Amino acid sequence: MIKAVVVQAVLVSVAVVGLAVAVKAQTPAAVDAAPRLRLGLGDLMTAFMQPRHAKLGLAGQARNWPYLAYERREFEETLELIERMVPRYRGTAMSDLLQVLKEPMASLDAAIKAKDGAGYDAAYARLTEGCNACHVATDHKMVVIQIPKASTFPNQNFAPQTE
Ligand code: HEC
Repeated sequence: MIKAVVVQAVLVSVAVVGLAVAVKAQTPAAVDAAPRLRLGLGDLMTAFMQPRHAKLGLAGQARNWPYLAYERREFEETLELIERMVPRYRGTAMSDLLQVLKEPMASLDAAIKAKDGAGYDAAYARLTEGCNACHVATDHKMVVIQIPKASTFPNQNFAPQTE
């Protein structure tokens, strides 16, 4: 009985090692065969740019300065990611196209630091105009961005937290 269990255990471990070797041997070929998927600009806009723009709007309406300081930086990182992943769009350097957001982003930063609500709203409106200016410039005027009218994030509270 004990002998049978030991034999079984040995067989199982041999099988596991065998499987591991088989998987290992297959890996390089399998990786080569997999298509190299890349996110396009439309994906990056929908997945990152649009939600972060909405969050900056919603938290701005709530005057949540600590969160805005954080999220503005996240938005900046999204711009860096887009520039790295799509360095050129139809022949124009992405860094040149993104210049349209530079002034609004700097003004948002200043307004957040000064806790200036009216200044924030004005800068956020210019940021949103910047989105649409680039859509027009890149032949996508049908993509119209607006200041969020309601939260698309039912699981996130944008109100400032008391210490
Ligand atoms: C570099 C110029 C540029 C800027 C700046 C820009 N966009 Fe875009 N956006 C595009 C282009 C080009 C497309 C179309 C990409 C494609 O489908 O290949 C697009 C597409 C989109 C889409 C996809 C639309 C859909 O319904 O599928 C959304 C959403 C979007 N942009 C949001 C934004 C927001 C929000 C901002 C500002 C915070 C912004 N974009 C700023 C160039 C820009």
